[in-house]
Amino acid sequence: MKQISIILFFFILPLAFADLQLGFYASSCRKAESIVNKVVQKRFNRDKSITAALLRMHFRDCFVRGCDASLLIDPTKNNTSEKQTGANASVRGYDLIDDVKEAIEATCPSTVSCSDIIALLTRDAVALSGGPKYNVPTGRRDGLVSNSIDANILPGPSSPIPQLTQFFAAKGITTEEMVTLLGAHTVGVAHCGFFANSIGDPALNTKLVNLCKSNTNGAAFLDQNTSFVVDNEFYKQILLKRGIMQIDQQLALDKSTSTFVSNFASNGDKFVKSFASAMIKMGKVGVLVGKEGEIRKNCRVFNKRN
Ligand code: HEM
Repeated sequence: MKQISIILFFFILPLAFADLQLGFYASSCRKAESIVNKVVQKRFNRDKSITAALLRMHFRDCFVRGCDASLLIDPTKNNTSEKQTGANASVRGYDLIDDVKEAIEATCPSTVSCSDIIALLTRDAVALSGGPKYNVPTGRRDGLVSNSIDANILPGPSSPIPQLTQFFAAKGITTEEMVTLLGAHTVGVAHCGFFANSIGDPALNTKLVNLCKSNTNGAAFLDQNTSFVVDNEFYKQILLKRGIMQIDQQLALDKSTSTFVSNFASNGDKFVKSFASAMIKMGKVGVLVGKEGEIRKNCRVFNKRN
């Protein structure tokens, strides 16, 4: 009996409850988090738009098969991967992941997952852009599957709010958390193909119509005021009808989301705190842990099987 309890306590229970934890690499790769920090700081110094790239990458990875870095896999002759699908074509920042992975592999090979690298990079970039500093639990493992068709489940910029709410709820994200996460549109750009046909603010509308007339691949800031700062300005802008994508503008108009928008617009501290906890929660969606998946050596390719 005693033997069974020992087996249960030390071997079976930890596997059943295997979870992410803070400082997962503290003993296996002590320098992991400082390497991530150094590399992203260096990139941020020359390109402040990297924060937007990482936030979007993290989201579009987590909501397809869970935060398992399946988005990073390059297509091959035999496999069309997630990054090839529709709107994923404009996801950027893969080269930064490569830089971090290379630096970490040189220090502790086959130890730190690509999915943890995305989560840590995003956290550090958010802090560099004036957003909250938060702790990210680690221990994610990398997925073994990446199919382009899977990424079709992601909603588009004109999806109605009830559909968005349902999509997020299916991953355990509440409506308030969804409004918080869409606050990530406080940084970054959208390309002409994704704009609303008519934007509520006439002067802005004319500006964007002209932009897209002269360059169909043009891009405009999602937050027209503080475009590189992670703050609550996005909500103020959509209350002023200056949201450039339909889903963003709808958040301010739909009854189920408008109260959250007003609250975040009037209380920057509340937004910053909620954003930190919503990001931590997003980073836990469908993660692989313990012995699941693998630790990729190169984030763009699955490890070779024997
Ligand atoms: C289902 C809801 C969402 C939809 C439909 C959506 C849609 C879009 C679209 C169409 C773009 C423009 C892409 C381009 O033109 O290249 C965009 C950009 C962006 N999205 Fe979202 N998004 C959603 C949720 C999120 C979430 C939850 C996050 C992060 C937590 C996020 C972060 C971003 C960022 C930062 C950008 C700017 C990217 C850049 O500058 O490269 N989005 N989004």
